[in-house]
Amino acid sequence: MAHISDLIATDIDAYLSAHEAKGLLRFITCGSVDDGKSTLIGRLLYESKMVFEDQLAALEADSRRIGTQGGALDFALLVDGLSAEREQGITIDVAYRFFSTDKRKFIVADTPGHEQYTRNMITGASTADVAVILIDARKGVLTQTRRHSFLVSLIGIRKVVLAINKMDLVGYDRAVFDRILEDYKEFAARIGLTEITAIPMSALKGDNILALSPATPWYDGPTLMAHLESVTVADRLEAAPFRMAVQWVNRPNLDFRGFAGLISAGAIRVGDAVRVLPSGRNATIARIVTFDGDLDRAVAGQSVTVTLTEEVDVSRGDILARADAPAAIADQFEATLVWMNDAAMLPGRPYLLKLGAKSVTATITEPKYKINVNTLEHLAAKTLELNEIAVVNLHVDQPLAFDAYQDNADTGGFILVDRITNNTVGAGLIHFALRRSENIHWQALDVGKLQRATQKSQRAGVLWFTGLSGAGKSTIANLVEKKLYARGNHTYALDGDNVRHGLNKDLGFTDADRVENIRRVAEVSRLMVDAGLIVLVSFISPFRAERRLARDLMDQGEFIEIFVDTPLAVAESRDAKGLYAKARRGEIRNFTGIDSVYEVPEAPEIRLDTGALSAEQAADLIIAELRLRGMLYDPGPIDNW
Ligand code: ADX
Repeated sequence: MAHISDLIATDIDAYLSAHEAKGLLRFITCGSVDDGKSTLIGRLLYESKMVFEDQLAALEADSRRIGTQGGALDFALLVDGLSAEREQGITIDVAYRFFSTDKRKFIVADTPGHEQYTRNMITGASTADVAVILIDARKGVLTQTRRHSFLVSLIGIRKVVLAINKMDLVGYDRAVFDRILEDYKEFAARIGLTEITAIPMSALKGDNILALSPATPWYDGPTLMAHLESVTVADRLEAAPFRMAVQWVNRPNLDFRGFAGLISAGAIRVGDAVRVLPSGRNATIARIVTFDGDLDRAVAGQSVTVTLTEEVDVSRGDILARADAPAAIADQFEATLVWMNDAAMLPGRPYLLKLGAKSVTATITEPKYKINVNTLEHLAAKTLELNEIAVVNLHVDQPLAFDAYQDNADTGGFILVDRITNNTVGAGLIHFALRRSENIHWQALDVGKLQRATQKSQRAGVLWFTGLSGAGKSTIANLVEKKLYARGNHTYALDGDNVRHGLNKDLGFTDADRVENIRRVAEVSRLMVDAGLIVLVSFISPFRAERRLARDLMDQGEFIEIFVDTPLAVAESRDAKGLYAKARRGEIRNFTGIDSVYEVPEAPEIRLDTGALSAEQAADLIIAELRLRGMLYDPGPIDNW
């Protein structure tokens, strides 16, 4: 094949400049295991001569040794190359590969077909202009095909190449091709994918990849390469209103304050009015600074540092937006969420939400419905399991600047991260803000927590007792409350067994119900702390995430986590309520310590070793600790405990 790379040998400068001027197409390939995806990409790389000599030598050797093509070049080996996937025979990560032809440069995101790797597929798709969806002609449209197509459409890719592969194994039968295409189109139309180019091919034999195949005389469309070289991709980003997330504030000296980031949409000129979000202050672009000097204008895709004429507050994570077309601001919105974690999504649990350069705490208030990707049916859901997709309402703990995902993928797409394990657990696409967020404000009142607590001669706070059932939480909390009462303090005790009879009587003991149980109690104790009380909470509260949620609801120093550390064997041997015995007999399910986890506190303010301390001693120890922390005002001369 005549190729521009021949210039490398003769005129390197001409080669480089020709290369630079070419447009770039990013595409993603999706397929199930064994659809021939790696073979296809391998062939594209090979035919475009982007395979280097040493890789080629290795490929030839490997093809002979472990190839599946009887010693002929096995292109899949080229792509599956580097990692453990080779032995497993599957591809397990997103790999970005580069190749070029005379007309275009290409970056292909190769993502695995296994269902559990949705995350990789989303990562790969997020920057792609086109999706190549592979189908094994013998198998037709599979659940995986629908699933990949659904994700592709969610991510906002509108152009699909339906690569109906392995046509050689069905005798290049046109009827097979037509039937699969009909089948696919019917589904695709329902998810908004209408620009479909179907190509009958054999990646292995090379049919319709670079040259039209004599085996498919009935096919009158382009080859895959010809299509990829010519498909138009609209430059939506430059036309959109200006957005730049501030990655860092550059302040080398007092005279310069620049805000650095990547322009994710639109363009700016010096003198343009921009709005800083979420604060909402307007300012004017004074300079656009780059490594190579100042610019008059900068566009989407460029990383720049801007300075502003006015002195306004801008911090990392803020968004600079066009003043007359700013991003929205809200703390509640509806979104589509793809769950990517083995542990189920739990409504009410706080997750870290990352959008652009900003991280906030988010809770999913309610899954409205989940979506069956095969039938597109809406199903009721309380939680979401791995790979499930749902429409949910989210609540974040501070106002967030954002766009609808369909307007801007950067300011409208987010990920959710587990705050304890730091794993990415979900990816979300924002639909719109919920009007509620603008209408409900925290009412500022003149008499506040401090006044109410001071009137009671105390500092408000929560004593949060956590531990197994039967550990002694309630017994110790009761003694502490008696001592505080005797001392003249104002207290209130919230106990799991009691609250579950009233406020939380609709909740059981599944993980989701426990999360909600603790969320409600945490909110109630926040109100009571606001009333100036010392609140004693005794709930098993088995999960770190929700204890952390309760902690985060309080001000600094108000939350005292007390781990009532009683080994399971001891709690079980007491079994005051006979529940352990029932759980062992299988009469009660999800019993903490038996078939439901208890996550031991990592850094409680107080740990009570109930093996070494009597309940009375434990209570005294807590009172002493409260005094040390200044929660009880100085006892005065007559109060000597
Ligand atoms: S929590 O896990 O959601 O914090 P909570 O403290 O409200 O639990 O309730 C625990 C009490 O409910 C236990 O002390 C016990 O009396 C009772 N109980 C009934 N079933 C269970 C169960 N499956 N697991 C734990 N406690 C249970």
